[in-house]
Amino acid sequence: TIEEREREFQEKIDSGQKIEPKEWMPDEYRRQLIRMIGQHAHSEIVGMLPEGNWITRAPSLRRKAVLLAKVQDEAGHGLYLYSAAETLGIDRQTMINQLITGKAKYSSIFNYPTTSWADMGAIGWLVDGAAIVNQTMLARGSYGPYSRAMVRICKEESFHNRQGYEIIYQLANGSEAQKKMAQDSLNRWWGPSMQMLGPSDADSTNSAVTMNWKIKVESNDTVRQRFIDRTVPQAHAAGLTIPDPDLKYNEETEHWEIGEIDWDEFYKVIKGYGPCNAKRMKARNEAEEQGKWVREAAAAYANKKSKKQEK
Ligand code: ACO
Repeated sequence: TIEEREREFQEKIDSGQKIEPKEWMPDEYRRQLIRMIGQHAHSEIVGMLPEGNWITRAPSLRRKAVLLAKVQDEAGHGLYLYSAAETLGIDRQTMINQLITGKAKYSSIFNYPTTSWADMGAIGWLVDGAAIVNQTMLARGSYGPYSRAMVRICKEESFHNRQGYEIIYQLANGSEAQKKMAQDSLNRWWGPSMQMLGPSDADSTNSAVTMNWKIKVESNDTVRQRFIDRTVPQAHAAGLTIPDPDLKYNEETEHWEIGEIDWDEFYKVIKGYGPCNAKRMKARNEAEEQGKWVREAAAAYANKKSKKQEK
């Protein structure tokens, strides 16, 4: 019966076994994974836009080459994740249609503008830093293809994180103007980076289900705290100030405590009203439209090749 199957499934999850594509799984498990992996894939692809904005303006050839490679890595992560979602029975075009029609979410963090070179540092340091903490947790998740994708992606994200911190650190130790640029960038990206890891546990609608099935193995607040503890000392080492007057170190718990997170801003952004939502959606819609002939040509070529092989 279905109840027995569900019980067996839960036992498998509880004993730490991975679930593989062809195995039986509850519809809701499949739906939650498609939702999360899809959102994740879209985030990687949309995430190329704020950094792509600086490729032509990187301050040296070295920085340009590194940024180009990093943005390309993000495209690779997106494709890798679409493939992981496809193992659950949805196809890539359906997911892309969900993105460009605004039905699917992507990370709130990519709806902010990149107004200075220091933002390339802040994104690598803070955004990819937060992503690593979230994704090393997801690597321990129950769905085989997704958890394995996380292992590989985290390795690349570690490079991204270090290159970002290197940019920020150098600016923070440069001229007065450069130091100001680094601090201004931290001031703008800190809040959104806190929000990026999802609503607080009390308001996280999916956590009960996603954690029960080990799609997520730690809560949003737990992951956020780990990110904070790891990042605050890095800011201090660079001589920068975290823009939070309530930030304090708790000697007893050995954790950094932060002030209120601006959840109104978060919900506004995920509803589509962030500073760059419209711009990001326009860019993805244009890419879809302008890439149509390439997809058609590739399909025609593949078709011709397979016909030749048949002969
Ligand atoms: N941006 C946009 N939407 C968000 C964000 C965010 N930063 N955080 C949470 N949400 C959405 C959730 O998707 C959910 O919406 P839905 O039910 O309509 O799909 C809603 O807010 C409530 O959140 P939760 O119930 O806490 O959702 P969940 O259990 O899925 O946890 C989390 C949120 C931690 C972000 C999880 O989805 C996750 O780990 N996702 C995979 C990682 C990922 O997507 N990273 C993208 C950025 S990293 C990068 O690209 C470099």
